[in-house]
Amino acid sequence: MTTPDQRPARSLPHRPRRLRTSPVMRAMVAETTLEPRRLVLPAFVAEGLAEPRPISSMPGVVQHTLDTLRRAAVDAAQAGLAGVMLFGVPEHKDARGSGALDPDGILTRAITAVRSEVGDDLLVMSDVCLDEFTDHGHCGVLTPSGVVDNDATVEIFAQMAVLHAWAGAHVVGPSGMMDGQVGAIRAALDADGAQDTTIMAYAAKFTSAFYGPFREAVDSSLTGDRKTYQQDGANVREALREVALDVAEGADIVMVKPALAYLDVIRAVAEVSPVPVAAYNISGEMAMVEAAAANGWIAREPAIAETLTSIRRAGADVVLTYWAQEWAERYHRGTTR
Ligand code: PBG
Repeated sequence: MTTPDQRPARSLPHRPRRLRTSPVMRAMVAETTLEPRRLVLPAFVAEGLAEPRPISSMPGVVQHTLDTLRRAAVDAAQAGLAGVMLFGVPEHKDARGSGALDPDGILTRAITAVRSEVGDDLLVMSDVCLDEFTDHGHCGVLTPSGVVDNDATVEIFAQMAVLHAWAGAHVVGPSGMMDGQVGAIRAALDADGAQDTTIMAYAAKFTSAFYGPFREAVDSSLTGDRKTYQQDGANVREALREVALDVAEGADIVMVKPALAYLDVIRAVAEVSPVPVAAYNISGEMAMVEAAAANGWIAREPAIAETLTSIRRAGADVVLTYWAQEWAERYHRGTTR
């Protein structure tokens, strides 16, 4: 046997390249796959909008009206996504984030609208946090000296979660990083007969520059930072402690966020967590890819595939991504690789 150019082949017992020779061969041996059923689409809905409003720092993402949100949810269900994670943007914000507890508020109405549209074909998930509702942009209410008041905020989160459950949320996602928030929410849900409402806890949520575009998405006026409640990116052990506490308090799913700069944390959590692990590919992470692709500096679709695959490979069971709908459509066309 000779090679095409008639030189005898080198006798190598191992040629890893044989498993890379064709798309079918590569697909057969791929260890990591990412099915639409594991994806959650984050979606924004704003009060008082006549038309959806594009978010300039998040190409392709909009602030929805209730109507366009309903349609996006139907599309998500048809594409086989797991769920939508809803964020509400109220017209009026105040120091206590009162809109968050308004039964007629934008987020509550969005939950009801989406749930009535999709029933149980798509999981309706809701952000339990105050930053979209406060005029100072922090995730909780402040003490007179301007510090985020942990225990007072936890009380509000508990009431918010109950409101969301009754509005129709299958899953509530406490994202404020207050101590004891998961336990308080679980107790409040149970006391109100919402024992089947699932808690996806943002357990290891790091303070991050990559949340930048999200601030535009929710019209946030945050000055300063969230370093007294979100975690320090230097710490893995602390992330594992936060996960253990949330699991002990009753979290059904734990989340690591952001994803890309924290792939090692996802891996560490996945190795020890007794519950499923989610990871959130956040706004700034998608904006980086979109901006570089728009400049012609990287190829967009392969970059998205590589990004989402890395998060799944790190150990995430569930991935929240703004590309969820697009990815599902590629998946059904067979063009994810
Ligand atoms: C808090 C919350 C944030 C995100 C999700 N939930 C903002 C923050 O913590 O600063 C960020 C999501 C993203 O950047 O895509 N309600």
